Amino acid sequence: MIKDLEIREATLEDLTEITSIFRDTVRAINSRDYSEKQIDVWSSGADDTEIWENRINDLYFIVAEFKNEIVGFAHITKGCNLDGLYVHKNYQRRTIGSKLLRIAESHIMAEGYEVINADSSITSVDFFDSHYFEQIKKQKKSYKGKGFAYSIFSKEL
Ligand SMILES: CC(C)(COP(=O)(O)OP(=O)(O)OC[C@H]1O[C@@H](n2cnc3c(N)ncnc32)[C@H](O)[C@@H]1OP(=O)(O)O)[C@@H](O)C(=O)NCCC(=O)NCCS
Repeated sequence: MIKDLEIREATLEDLTEITSIFRDTVRAINSRDYSEKQIDVWSSGADDTEIWENRINDLYFIVAEFKNEIVGFAHITKGCNLDGLYVHKNYQRRTIGSKLLRIAESHIMAEGYEVINADSSITSVDFFDSHYFEQIKKQKKSYKGKGFAYSIFSKEL
């Protein structure tokens, strides 16, 4: 568990740190559950700078900072969909994901929604289970021509 973790809204100055975490976490952590080719395609999303800029500008996008280093981030789309949640590969299982989720849930509730939805990778199923989400269904989505298995989770707030 990490004390002195600060959660704040992201700015464009955080772009490089955010995309590095995304790339490294997908390669180091999600690679347990997906093929090498899938991981290459997924992690290449880190290079789509304009998409990340738009996310930071347009979405509720938060980062967790520890000793001036970003160690995780989350963003919400369509009011109540937790669309991305990534923790630095060297800071896994130290409650950072739980804290980001809690702040995201507070934001969603403050916006008047009574439910939170999340697309979960195979890797994060146990995380959402442990936070009382219900698995709605398993699906496959296509990203850059590759198929990815994932689950849709939901929870009443
Ligand atoms: C999913 C993720 C965000 C969780 O962040 P985290 O900071 O490691 O999670 P926490 O430390 O808050 O975990 C809280 C609880 O969730 C459960 N949990 C989290 N990761 C788990 C894992 N890999 N296996 C089993 N249980 C897990 C545990 O119950 C854990 O409590 P414990 O450590 O006391 O046992 C992180 O593992 C991650 O970045 N994964 C890769 C990216 C990803 O797949 N994101 C999901 C959206 S696509």
